[in-house]
Amino acid sequence: MSAAETRRIEKLAGRRIRDRIPAAYLTHEAWLGDFRFYVDRRVIVPRSFIAELLPDGVAPFLQRPVRTALDMCTGSGCLAVLLAHAFPGARVDGIDLSAGALAVARRNVAAYRLASRIRLAKSNLFDAVPARRRYDLIVSNPPYVDAASMRRLPDEYRSEPRVALAGGTDGLVLVHRILEGARRHLNPRGALVCEIGHNRKALERACPRAPFTWLDTSAGDGYVFLLEREQIPA
Ligand SMILES: C[S@@+](CC[C@H](N)C(=O)[O-])C[C@H]1O[C@@H](n2cnc3c(N)ncnc32)[C@H](O)[C@@H]1O
Repeated sequence: MSAAETRRIEKLAGRRIRDRIPAAYLTHEAWLGDFRFYVDRRVIVPRSFIAELLPDGVAPFLQRPVRTALDMCTGSGCLAVLLAHAFPGARVDGIDLSAGALAVARRNVAAYRLASRIRLAKSNLFDAVPARRRYDLIVSNPPYVDAASMRRLPDEYRSEPRVALAGGTDGLVLVHRILEGARRHLNPRGALVCEIGHNRKALERACPRAPFTWLDTSAGDGYVFLLEREQIPA
């Protein structure tokens, strides 16, 4: 490296250490598996365990071909891009509440030349989704940090948008709304794949009759569940 390059890296490392800013916000680059994404403070740094599951971790559980898919709470658009690659014949919708996040997602979708297959839209969860729209697969990595954990967040996480993290008192406020919306917007035998962090016990207590399939990820088997439409409790 040249002396100038070394100085630049030292300056970035200094900000990372002193100001506790995630490196991805300093370099505007984050990797999810083999995929590179542009990021800034309008989105969380991509790290969803769902990325590990696309497509081989979910395929054995899918009862229908994936022609339409939804990434609910798309943020940087990272999972929408992964969905489009995992299911090359599928049309993908990516939804987020944050206009800033959608601007970042648009940039990533364009970088992967997927604008003809990925449609991005602003919506409070399913509120703006047309009533008749149905999907074969819905994935979601929603905000799921509970209120007590939000109060103890390390500094790095405080650089991320609060709206991307905070999931209400028990962390599951949005998850319940996603379950309800997925029941309305999945095709018969379509599947919902949803990440919920450390909240498996709380979710199983809240939905005792739902036959969750817990998918294996590098974090263990309590972080991402799959339910078919017919398995989602009314
Ligand atoms: C945990 S981030 C996930 C982002 C991305 N899917 C990923 O895995 O990196 C959650 C996203 O949900 C969005 N969000 C929060 N509340 C929402 C709501 N009510 N409706 C739609 N999106 C919402 C946030 O703006 C944020 O981008």
